Amino acid sequence: MLAELIDGKAIAAVIRAEVARDVAELMTRGVVPGLTVVLVGDDAASATYVSGKEKASRAAGMASATIRLPATTSQDELLAVVEQLNADRAVHGILVQMPLPSQIDPDTVIRHIVPHKDVDGFHPVNVGKLLIGHTDGFVSCTPAGVIELLVRSGVQMRGAEAVIIGRSNIVGKPMAALLMQGRSDATVTVCHSRTRDLAAHTRRADILIVAAGRAEMITGDMIKPGAVVIDVGMNRVPDATRALGTRLCGDVHFASAVNVASKITPVPGGVGPMTIAMLLKNTVRAAERSLH
Ligand code: GUN
Repeated sequence: MLAELIDGKAIAAVIRAEVARDVAELMTRGVVPGLTVVLVGDDAASATYVSGKEKASRAAGMASATIRLPATTSQDELLAVVEQLNADRAVHGILVQMPLPSQIDPDTVIRHIVPHKDVDGFHPVNVGKLLIGHTDGFVSCTPAGVIELLVRSGVQMRGAEAVIIGRSNIVGKPMAALLMQGRSDATVTVCHSRTRDLAAHTRRADILIVAAGRAEMITGDMIKPGAVVIDVGMNRVPDATRALGTRLCGDVHFASAVNVASKITPVPGGVGPMTIAMLLKNTVRAAERSLH
């Protein structure tokens, strides 16, 4: 069997068009959804992500701003910026790009953002709402994007065995909460670096979601025939056959997995494009709520 590709780029484009329509509708009611991204320091990967967020939010018709601060910024200086944004009525969504320089504690910064502007869904109030099943919070963009990929690809989640590899606060834990709640109704297993006999778990999975951060760790022999495989990984590995000497790959060994799975996300072009689309969706929701 050759798996069908789940085209994250195409699905993200549909969501971005839906968001642009919602933005236009909000503007007729006098609200321009505003997203402000704060970037501290000059990490090259972060700068690329941030300019992608800025471009996509502009393209959707939002008011987009990026505040760039030097790598030497103190925690108090960053908290003062967050407080200004908290108070600014034109700003509906605040995103502080991670990772932050070592003198700044990320948890302190996240807790400083008012939960109703935390479009990253990282604030403990939003994480708690997700776990309880309350739908008036914000959900972390990558796991929310994975659910959209599954729903829009017609994957049946009810009663399915879903296995997640990775227990991070940003992906693995919220992914488990989303899959187990009433709207998904999956049976969820979370595996991590201390899991005994990982393959015994992955081979049971109808839906396998891999967010471990280890290049090509899941091979075809670890996948149940016909499973749906979602690869959240994004790794750069050496490859002498490429002009750059490297290539991008996921946490799944695509060439072997594609022969076993029924549906699979490619890397790049799978989960990646969904993250920004969900950020825009969260920002529109934040702006809509500002009306009530
Ligand atoms: N760094 C890498 N991904 C993300 C993200 O989704 N949100 C934030 N704030 N920082 C990131």
